[in-house]
Amino acid sequence: MTTISASAPGKFVILGEHAVVYGKPALALAIDMRFSIRVSRSNSYKVNGQAATPYNMSPHMRYISDKIGTSPVSIYVDGRVPSGSGLGSSAALSNAYAAAISALEGLPTDKETIARLAYEAEYASQGRGSPMDTSASANGYGIALNVPYKEEDFLWHIEKEDNAWDISKIDVPKMTFVIGNTGIKAATGPLVEKVRKYRESNTFAAGIVDEIGDVTLDGLEAMKNNDLEELGALMTYDHKLLSILGVSCNELNHMVEAAIPYSYGAKLTGSGGGGCMVALTDRPEKVAKAIRAHGGTPYVIHTGVKGVTVK
Ligand code: PMV
Repeated sequence: MTTISASAPGKFVILGEHAVVYGKPALALAIDMRFSIRVSRSNSYKVNGQAATPYNMSPHMRYISDKIGTSPVSIYVDGRVPSGSGLGSSAALSNAYAAAISALEGLPTDKETIARLAYEAEYASQGRGSPMDTSASANGYGIALNVPYKEEDFLWHIEKEDNAWDISKIDVPKMTFVIGNTGIKAATGPLVEKVRKYRESNTFAAGIVDEIGDVTLDGLEAMKNNDLEELGALMTYDHKLLSILGVSCNELNHMVEAAIPYSYGAKLTGSGGGGCMVALTDRPEKVAKAIRAHGGTPYVIHTGVKGVTVK
């Protein structure tokens, strides 16, 4: 019997979260934490050997199955990207599942096709703002949204309702990050909504969103020049801007402060309100210890991670 295996990584946002919802630039890097999925044909849907019900099959997987019109499959999910923490867990799952099912049905599995399908699944399931997570997971390595790019770096353009994003690949130097998970699960939707209301009702907040866009472009330049000092300083500044927008929390602030003495810079990553922070460092053990001392779970991450794979 044909069995297809596919896998896809999670991601973190190095700069530009929240502002990207309004078409501003953002940079996201793939992380070496992945979901792997095996699928084979079956008489009925099963997930990890259990009969699938709406409770154990994610809405993303259901959306993808319906869209492709596949017959029932047995699905095994391995690996893990922590969920509800801004690490793109549902995007990784959607990419891996979309690639596996598409391959099983003899459909194209190029990165662009999978990125689009995974974004539709995310949008249908969560009403998410941007295709950042799904595109970062599909392409791997590093991507930029809405930045000036060379033609050879262009990946794809995605439109949804009033918004549109140009996605391009970026050269990412060798870097080490430590992600610190607060363990506090915070849904993305309400935080995006909070920023939307603040931005619409307050020109100061609108200016902060614009400033995040500018900081992101400076960060891209710093990355191109392999200037980690500058990149780190921009990350720390971005954390302050995000705090002003009201998407940080005490736990994130404490972990960022604790990481900074051993880092080039640190910030919350993703939608905030809990979830994770990230520090750019060449002393990962020291940062990991500081994060643990503040009740967080550290993950040491290196750049250069492959996107969606299928075999
Ligand atoms: O899902 P998270 O926590 O990675 O947050 C996504 C980043 C936002 O910019 C806040 C929303 C979006 O869709 O881009």
